[in-house]
Amino acid sequence: MKALVLAGGSGTRLRPFSYSMPKQLIPVANRPVLDYVLGTIVDLGVTEVGVIVGDRADEIRQALGDGSRLGARLTYIRQEAPLGLAHAVVIARDFLGDEDFVMYLGDNMLPDGIAPIAAEFAEHRPAAHVAVYKVPDPRAFGVAELGPGGEVLRLVEKPQAPRSDLALMGVYFFTAAVHEAVRSIGPSTRGELEITDALQWLVSAGAHVRAGRYEGYWKDTGNVEDLLDCNRHVLHGLRPRVDGGVDAASTLVGPVVVERGARVAGSRIEGPAIIGEGTVVQDSHIGPHTSIGRACTVVDSRLEHSIALDGASVTGVRGLRSSVIGRSASVGTSGQSADRYRLVVGDHTRVEVAA
Ligand code: TTP
Repeated sequence: MKALVLAGGSGTRLRPFSYSMPKQLIPVANRPVLDYVLGTIVDLGVTEVGVIVGDRADEIRQALGDGSRLGARLTYIRQEAPLGLAHAVVIARDFLGDEDFVMYLGDNMLPDGIAPIAAEFAEHRPAAHVAVYKVPDPRAFGVAELGPGGEVLRLVEKPQAPRSDLALMGVYFFTAAVHEAVRSIGPSTRGELEITDALQWLVSAGAHVRAGRYEGYWKDTGNVEDLLDCNRHVLHGLRPRVDGGVDAASTLVGPVVVERGARVAGSRIEGPAIIGEGTVVQDSHIGPHTSIGRACTVVDSRLEHSIALDGASVTGVRGLRSSVIGRSASVGTSGQSADRYRLVVGDHTRVEVAA
């Protein structure tokens, strides 16, 4: 079996971060999402991985290299534009050959692994096996209607009036039967070759398409709220470790990781939390559920349920919550009176101040 990881796309929901980095490299507990994705695939025993990349191919190559660091052998496949998930399968035809494969969306996190999904696929070996997840509002997802034995009866992309609450997740297992399907469909109204259309094509052609309910933790990290939720979840699994310096005036509570070269002084770090390499935290309260990247500075501040990316600085701000602070961004006080704010924010940035 091979794997196809989709790491192109436009990432509009994760602006402004996706303006300057591929969203699949955004850090969760200070590791890029793609590290977790490849780890999950390698855990299945699958090592031949095709990686679909778009405009940000160079950064992804730089981060993952040939994959050996993660126990995988990577083949990069360039997609000239985000023309859809099924388009990614079309352009990966030569890499995939006639082997079975798992297609995995590069912004999806399943920290509990996908072994149960793989086992279901291996047991029945249908033309396609999709994983579905019960969601409260399925209108933003591909939605599956299932028969009593788990067979897929119908699939609809982002339905206005969903006929089930089972959303398609970002993990699909296919046999080579999918290649005819992706070649046979046309673009949707949004101009993409949709994988739901390819799956529906298989169902209509009488092929065996199955779905299995996934019970573990699943998040698509493609928007800020889900990214923060995922960060919180992954941080809970951290094993505490202090490789950096923590002075006697500081307190660490619960699972806290302080990376090499980080310095914590006069501060309280409430786990789960991680302080990245070379970061300085002084007279601050960090956590719970907070990741501070590498080479950041946090002084005289309070930060919880948040992510600071590498090089960020926060000074004199005592009420940050559910925030994501971009690389080398700075958040601080202006020295002006309490009801004045000074903002220098980029395109599609979001600022929320106390009412
Ligand atoms: P999406 O998150 O559905 O699409 P997107 O990246 O364009 O994001 P947004 O909706 O915020 O604009 O894509 C899921 C994953 O698949 C993601 O890792 C990007 C990747 N992808 C491709 O590699 N090629 C494509 O043509 C598309 C549509 C997505």
